[in-house]
Amino acid sequence: ETPSADDAPQLRHDIRTVGVVGTGTMASGIVQVFAQAGYDVVYVGRGEDKVAGVRTFIEKSLDKAIARGKSDEATKAAVLGRLTGATERSALAEVDIVVEAIAEDLDIKQELFADLDRICKPGAILATTTSSLPITSCAEVTSRPEAVIGMHFFNPAPVMKLVEVVTTVQTGADVDETVRALCAKTGKVAVSCGDRAGFIVNALLFPYLNDAVKLSESGLELGVIDTAIKEQAAYPMGPFELLDVVGNDVSLAIQEELLREFRQPGFTPAHTLKQVVAEGKLGRKTGQGFHDYR
Ligand code: 3HC
Repeated sequence: ETPSADDAPQLRHDIRTVGVVGTGTMASGIVQVFAQAGYDVVYVGRGEDKVAGVRTFIEKSLDKAIARGKSDEATKAAVLGRLTGATERSALAEVDIVVEAIAEDLDIKQELFADLDRICKPGAILATTTSSLPITSCAEVTSRPEAVIGMHFFNPAPVMKLVEVVTTVQTGADVDETVRALCAKTGKVAVSCGDRAGFIVNALLFPYLNDAVKLSESGLELGVIDTAIKEQAAYPMGPFELLDVVGNDVSLAIQEELLREFRQPGFTPAHTLKQVVAEGKLGRKTGQGFHDYR
């Protein structure tokens, strides 16, 4: 059944100011998404240079849009005017929702969630954009598991419309609805899913990407596989191009999580995927991955 406008999710919590933790590709893109949608955004990084990098990322992105005739200087000034960078998490005390996009490491995330729980005002929603760790594990270190939720954005966040909204058994229905309404307000399409490895998209996407690596190990050239998929499946990128965008370290972490959950040998990470990660060929972000960008 197609939902009617009456079924559209509503903002059950007042959301005016959004906090973002992290300064990497996903964090920068997420800051941009909210600022472009008119929200004031407070983002926190581990140093002045990293914090400044987020602003530069957004400036460049807006400059490109202006050059393509898709934006203008006034819009750019307005978006940049909504940004507040900080190096201390205490800057998040008054935000209505925090979206974290820091390292994909459970100890690091749990330390952050325990800290956000202390810092953020009562009622503030704590969201994670993790793609490989259980949301439940982030919730269990807080005193407000009902306010903890997954908001899984895709890379590049300003472009990709989908957000997987991931609820745990403890997430409040009001929090789930508010986050889905917030996605709509930022021009995103929300799909709801439960807290299981890979959620929906990665559970289907990564076995394919991993199989592409295994296929290349049988002697097929990477470029040939990329071309075949783009031609036949009409995907915007071939598997190796996409792995290099996502990051091979992130991809390996996701694949290992899928293996842990589904326990079938087919999910075993491809040897070459482990090898490129060990060699530091992490993808576009390091200038080299399956393909060379230098
Ligand atoms: N930031 C902002 N805008 C961007 C951008 C970025 N990083 N990259 C591209 N764009 C914009 C361009 O400005 C352009 O906008 P316009 O249409 O308004 O002019 C539009 O996106 C298209 O860009 P281009 O014409 O330069 O290039 P392409 O047509 O090749 O599109 C792409 C680029 C959108 C990245 C496309 O290649 C694509 O869709 N790739 C697949 C991406 C994908 O599947 N991501 C999901 C990965 S899985 C994941 O993230 C899950 C995680 O858990 C691992």
